[in-house]
Amino acid sequence: MGIMNKHETLERHSLALTIGILLVVAVGGLVEIAPLFYLENTIEKVEGMRPYTPLELEGRNIYIREGCYVCHSQMVRPLRDEVERYGHYSLAAESMYDHPFQWGSKRTGPDLARVGGKYSDSWHVDHLKKPQSMVPESVMPPYAFLADNKLHFDDIEAHLKTLRFEGVPYTDDMIANAKSDLMAQADPNSDYDAQDAFVARYVAAAGRDNTVRIADYDGNPDEITELDALIAYLQMTGTLVDFSTYEADDLDNRR
Ligand code: HEC
Repeated sequence: MGIMNKHETLERHSLALTIGILLVVAVGGLVEIAPLFYLENTIEKVEGMRPYTPLELEGRNIYIREGCYVCHSQMVRPLRDEVERYGHYSLAAESMYDHPFQWGSKRTGPDLARVGGKYSDSWHVDHLKKPQSMVPESVMPPYAFLADNKLHFDDIEAHLKTLRFEGVPYTDDMIANAKSDLMAQADPNSDYDAQDAFVARYVAAAGRDNTVRIADYDGNPDEITELDALIAYLQMTGTLVDFSTYEADDLDNRR
């Protein structure tokens, strides 16, 4: 009986066949899984990724509170139609500081992972107040009340501290200055020294310029509203990594 006929023995004994299958699957599984235990991190480091600024973080909290994720995903999949519509597919690194991540699985509206910079701040103000004013056929509900809600950020340090506990690299400096950084980002006419200090802190964390923006996002200079925070968050999504120069690691590039 040649070696090629040995499988007949296995096929005639269901128990032996089951054990054989288990063995083969176990080896396959181990080869794939075991190396992961020896890697500190499976996320490729990408230049430009930094933790959210305090204002963006407040905006993200509002995004979650209002359930925007029920209709919007934040994950561009590596499929041709998605990449052509939204831009470069999402990288793991882009959500490495997200707790919880906002990938989502439902798209009643478009994916928002790369919406930052696509429209002006005032477009977002009009759209969020009354989506149909910008896109007449839109089924998105209005969020005009966000413009009247003063942003409460007394507990912003605690948010940063909690995220640091989760592994987000907020420095002591960022935590101590969270309130002043938040106010600096929402008001281009605020104390310039505070603005410079704020930009320096977050640009250093990103390792790349042009990753922080100061603006009166909601167009109302009198107070910082929830709309300011939400638009600050929307306008930074997908803008941290410079995809004109980004090249995937060799490992990801194997063909
Ligand atoms: C009931 C589903 C629904 C909810 C909830 C919803 N949206 Fe939308 N959104 C849509 C639809 C549909 C569109 C496409 C039409 C339009 O632009 O209004 C859209 C479009 C958008 C766009 C423009 C995207 C683009 O690339 O043109 C932004 C930005 C946006 N939504 C933000 C939000 C935010 C922020 C929230 C939460 C405060 C939210 N949406 C909640 C359905 C929804």
